Amino acid sequence: MASIVAILSSVLIFSAFSLGSSLSLNYYDKTCPHAESIIANAVKNAVSKDKTVPAALLRMHFHDCFIRGCDASLLLNSKGSNKAEKDGPPNVSVHAFYVIDSAKKELETWCPGVVSCADTLALAARDAVVLSGGPSWDVPKGRKDGRTSKASETITMPSPAFNIAQLQQSFSQRGLSMDDLVALSGGHTLGFSHCSSFQSRIRNFNATHDIDPSMHSSFAASLRGVCPIKNKPKNAGTTMDPSSTTFDNTYFKMILQGKGLFSSDQALLSNPKTKELVSKFAGSQEAFRKAFVNSMIKMSSITGGQEIRKDCRVVN
Ligand code: HEM
Ligand SMILES: *[C@@H]1O[C@H](CO)[C@@H](O)[C@H](O)[C@H]1NC(C)=O
Ligand SMILES: *[C@@H]1O[C@H](CO)[C@@H](O)[C@H](O)[C@H]1NC(C)=O
Repeated sequence: MASIVAILSSVLIFSAFSLGSSLSLNYYDKTCPHAESIIANAVKNAVSKDKTVPAALLRMHFHDCFIRGCDASLLLNSKGSNKAEKDGPPNVSVHAFYVIDSAKKELETWCPGVVSCADTLALAARDAVVLSGGPSWDVPKGRKDGRTSKASETITMPSPAFNIAQLQQSFSQRGLSMDDLVALSGGHTLGFSHCSSFQSRIRNFNATHDIDPSMHSSFAASLRGVCPIKNKPKNAGTTMDPSSTTFDNTYFKMILQGKGLFSSDQALLSNPKTKELVSKFAGSQEAFRKAFVNSMIKMSSITGGQEIRKDCRVVN
């Protein structure tokens, strides 16, 4: 039974992934020439009021792409008895859906029924990176929006407790390589994490170690200070890196010091190939930016939808 589920789920992931060859750079040139500037303005407005928006948009795009391809399935609301992805377990800090809503509203005024929610999110994620001081790139467009969103499928998201083999498997199921894993993990240069995502590393780690031995001890001590034993304030947590609103390579420098926040971050040192890339990106901002762009285009080309939604929260 388990193997049938595994086969079915990899067929599902793989078939979504293999449809993704029809994107193009000039997709809206004739049908909605101002699409990109409309989206960029909506993102800029939101960011000017709330500095946590770029991280939220980048993570939102990643989560969208990893389930059923980049088809805006993450944007759908739960309806009736169907619990949607956004109400599934790994949704802490997935927020700022209103930014996509406001961009989409403006798009519908100018070119109704033309620009997909999935493209809107892919472009907004790029804009979020640019506004944080990161690289810019041309986003291939032409994604369609999906009609299915299931909270139960969020169990296929990689966990922050994953080791390198599990991360590799999760990425390769989506056609992404170890190089993509390292570059895209650099998305953790932005944003915030709740204690729940790393608390198993800082107390009662296992029978022989109270603290994860791969974590720098003074870093662990400072995290213990931030995260109370009975994690009552559910919003307690810490920034993903010390410069959490700036897109830079600090994340990789922290990993080299044993100050990666999640096991999945620190695990990038446990394989010679990924370790070498971490060192390379820690030493060269340029190398990281180039690799990140390359891998973002790859991740955001995993397509899977069928329609152009009018409202990103509901199917047509
Ligand atoms: C490699 C596997 C990955 C794992 C296991 C992972 C896990 C997580 C976790 C647990 C959080 C914190 C959630 C919380 O406690 O609030 C987080 C935050 C974040 N992740 Fe990842 N992530 C991964 C890959 C990525 C990728 C590929 C990107 C984008 C390219 C990304 C972008 C972000 C961002 C920007 C945040 C901060 C969100 C915010 O501040 O609102 N992550 N991730
Ligand atoms: C996350 O999921 C929980 C239930 O698992 C739900 O109550 C909550 O509203 C969701 N959060 C967001 C931001 O959608
Ligand atoms: C605890 O974790 C460390 C490091 O990952 C490992 O070497 C050790 O064998 C583990 N101990 C137990 C009892 O699992």
